[in-house]
Amino acid sequence: MSAKTPTRLEPDEPGIAEAARLLGEGGLVALPTETVYGLAADARNDRAVARIYEAKGRPSFNPLIVHLPDLAAVEEIAELPGAARDLAAAFWPGPMTLVLPLREGAGLSPLVTAGLPTVALRLPAHPAMRAVLEAFGGPVAAPSANPSGRISATRAEHVIAGLGHRVDAVLDAGPCAVGVESTILAPGETGLRLLREGGLTRENVEAVAGPVTEDVTPGKVEAPGQLSSHYAPGVPVRLGGNAEAEEVGIGFGPGTADLNLSETGDLVEAAARLFDILHEADALAAARGAGAIRVADVPDEGLGRAINDRLRRAAAPRD
Ligand code: TXA
Ligand code: MG
Repeated sequence: MSAKTPTRLEPDEPGIAEAARLLGEGGLVALPTETVYGLAADARNDRAVARIYEAKGRPSFNPLIVHLPDLAAVEEIAELPGAARDLAAAFWPGPMTLVLPLREGAGLSPLVTAGLPTVALRLPAHPAMRAVLEAFGGPVAAPSANPSGRISATRAEHVIAGLGHRVDAVLDAGPCAVGVESTILAPGETGLRLLREGGLTRENVEAVAGPVTEDVTPGKVEAPGQLSSHYAPGVPVRLGGNAEAEEVGIGFGPGTADLNLSETGDLVEAAARLFDILHEADALAAARGAGAIRVADVPDEGLGRAINDRLRRAAAPRD
């Protein structure tokens, strides 16, 4: 592990080539995706994958998402049942992760899947990420690029503030467009399970695949991302109502809150800004000595479900 600040790479040809080279050397590179920044390493390299867990301070039972450039690469690693094929055709590349049966001899480090017989795969849409995946030519494991349990990173600055010298480089492509992590789906014999709400709305999934079964029980570790306290700022987060004098207020829709997810009440804008605003609120609370962050109600529909999921976890009691 180096003690210097990470190299900042541009999303141009030399930057992309350098990111791919570092991955090939077993390096840790923060890469932009359309959802959030990922903390990326070669998914076949045990030491490199171990460095992801170490850098995040992540419990090793929580497996990682593997990022791939195309369906051919998916089929080398996992089985793709018919239902998964339809979802892939409809929503990849994009903010969707599928949990699929792992193929024998897929060549992934067992640390990636934490020993499970399944693997979480995603074809991201971000052009810089896709370019790195193509230049690298192998599977890339990448959880969100934040210390475990803290607010996800939607800008290179967030990555550097949270992980700093623990990463070798950050490919800075500006803010992420979607702003919340991918929707995680597990197709199975008993139908389609929704393991995590995310950037692809449940409504869109159901339009293609029919009704999903929700399997997002907080606290259930076997299901993804589901340690209940997560995305936590430095001060407590309270949900609903108006901010008291000693709180930093985050609004949604017209109003006079300190910060606003979307003045016009637009859920797409609110999702894109969510983590950035939580980082800002955290800094504001520290600067003012405020005791808490108060977030206004967000409608529980479309992307609002993914937003509310992140907010509930940010507000959950901490150990
Ligand atoms: O948008 C995203 O999904 C971002 C970007 C970087 O791709 N990644 C991300 O990764 O959010 P992470 O590691 O923070 O969340 C991945 C989730 C974890 O909660 C993990 O439990 C779940 O995926 N997961 C991974 N493999 C799984 C599996 N085989 N079965 C069930 N859940 C799995
Ligand atoms: Mg995460």
